[in-house]
Amino acid sequence: MPQKLIAPSLLASDFANLQRDIEMINTSDADWFHVDIMDGLFVPNISLGMPVFKAITTHTKKFVDVHLMIVDPDRFVVEFAALGASSITVHYEACPHLHRTLQFIKQAGAKTGVALNPHTPVGVLKEVISMIDVVCMMSVNPGFGGQTFIENTYNKITELKELIRSTNASTLIEIDGGVTDENAHKLIKTGANVLVSGSFIFKSENPPETIKNLRSIINIKEQ
Ligand code: DX5
Ligand code: ZN
Repeated sequence: MPQKLIAPSLLASDFANLQRDIEMINTSDADWFHVDIMDGLFVPNISLGMPVFKAITTHTKKFVDVHLMIVDPDRFVVEFAALGASSITVHYEACPHLHRTLQFIKQAGAKTGVALNPHTPVGVLKEVISMIDVVCMMSVNPGFGGQTFIENTYNKITELKELIRSTNASTLIEIDGGVTDENAHKLIKTGANVLVSGSFIFKSENPPETIKNLRSIINIKEQ
């Protein structure tokens, strides 16, 4: 049975009530926390840094998936791991020495993740796929929550699934951006394992119910 996980993105939470929103996820049907770190250079936005990340991990009781949208991420791998990152995802586009970066993440004791921008072909990961625990497939251009899902993502999932199968890797496929109840089932059916969802969950009237509904949608068996 392939893994099917839900990872609410804290980027869409209420930063003035972070503890409340973290507790909501702790007691919800969600599996992971997704934490977006943006530096204003790799992406045209700044989200949060170390002090806030440290405050977050004092309350999280589930797997913490850190998505680094920053240049030269090697500088911060050890610190994020020490502060409680369960997995650290770097961008392929920000890592000229990706093989070495993945080694750093492993040495720091975290699961390894690589994110691909929408324009980046899946094949660039061929030589390192066995070192990657999670590929984060961007289904929007990174930098902001609340954007529209890019349909070409389905083709990329199919290609990535084939790469993982043909190399006997055990990499999870994570989808990040514009995930809603409209596309969740098709994403899982195509081969996704982890669905990141920010605005759809946090801007809904009842976030725990929205998570529960997403869970039931991704668990629907094919007839
Ligand atoms: C975008 C971030 C996403 C974002 C997803 O750069 O990587 O994790 O929070 O938000 P939604 O689900 O609102 O598209
Ligand atoms: Zn993200």
